[in-house]
Amino acid sequence: MNRIFNFSAGPSTLPVEVLQEARDELLDHQGRGLSIMEDSHRSKAYDAVHNEALSNMRELLGIEDDYAVLFLTGGASGQFAMAPLNLLGEGQVADYTDSGAWAAKAIKEARVIGAVNVIADCGKEIPTRVPRLDELQYTKNAAYVHITSNETISGAQWKEFPATESPLVADMSSDILSRPLDVSKFGLIYAGAQKNLGPAGVTLVIIRKDLAERVSDKVPLFYRYKTHIAENSLYNTPPCFPIYVLMLVTRWLKEKGGLTAMAELNERKAKKLYDVIDAGEFYRGTAIPEHRSTMNVTFRLPTEELEAAFVKEATKERMSGLKGHRSVGGIRASIYNAMPEEGVDALVAFMKEFERKNG
Ligand SMILES: Cc1ncc(COP(=O)(O)O)c(C=O)c1O
Repeated sequence: MNRIFNFSAGPSTLPVEVLQEARDELLDHQGRGLSIMEDSHRSKAYDAVHNEALSNMRELLGIEDDYAVLFLTGGASGQFAMAPLNLLGEGQVADYTDSGAWAAKAIKEARVIGAVNVIADCGKEIPTRVPRLDELQYTKNAAYVHITSNETISGAQWKEFPATESPLVADMSSDILSRPLDVSKFGLIYAGAQKNLGPAGVTLVIIRKDLAERVSDKVPLFYRYKTHIAENSLYNTPPCFPIYVLMLVTRWLKEKGGLTAMAELNERKAKKLYDVIDAGEFYRGTAIPEHRSTMNVTFRLPTEELEAAFVKEATKERMSGLKGHRSVGGIRASIYNAMPEEGVDALVAFMKEFERKNG
């Protein structure tokens, strides 16, 4: 096997054990002579996969029965629309925090549907950060309060979540399952799969069941959470193969000791990189230290030419995906759950050597 260390922000690296298992079962799922991709979504075998994926999610996050767990399609971008379609009634206002590019996209979509109050805006600040809890000035009786738990592009992450009177809604696309979470603090959580959950194509939604009842009759059935809750995410053909891989990923997470163990590993991996950044003047972290992401480590070099050389030389050393997002430049090392610690160690060694040669 000749795998590289892939630091891409998403789609991103998957646990090699998961890929091996999916490969072994690809043509012949459990001796049945067909792939899980080719099987009916109403089959007994797929049913077992679907329900194990759901129960693993519940177990890992400690999700109680008053919440539904859904596997939908359309990505987190689809949820930018679906959340307000379901939760933002006529005459109501939704509170949004602007912490960067993804929050801004969520705000833009919500404004198509209803009234939005941006209650904190640090989305364009450099160094990057997320809002501080004491900055948040809620609208009275807001339909909900929306946050982006981890800004994948800027590398800023909420370390503590606000206790809100209105239901808290979070886009957790780039840090779901990276640390333990008290789901009961949230009304709705959503995430595209292609960072910590599996391949692109399935979208995770966790919603307090009573909130799903708010939806207006004017919303098409397909776009109502309650339609999918009633059908256990089998209202239409689900993305069976991505859900199958998500099931393997969640099984892998349980074997690795669950989210407490994963959070420890993620903290350790991130610290190794931030320590190199902080050791001298050559590298400059993009986010303020208190809000630095454990998932997307963003930094700059003294010049754009050096940044280009860094990416090019890293590629030669079998490390890919380090170029910052096209909208902001710089370097971004995405170190999701599946990035092995050896990958981070290799990058640390490369960064030190690159600085020695060019600093
Ligand atoms: C925080 C965040 N939100 C939303 C999205 C968009 O997700 P999708 O492409 O699944 O619609 C991304 C994608 O990278 C993201 O990182």
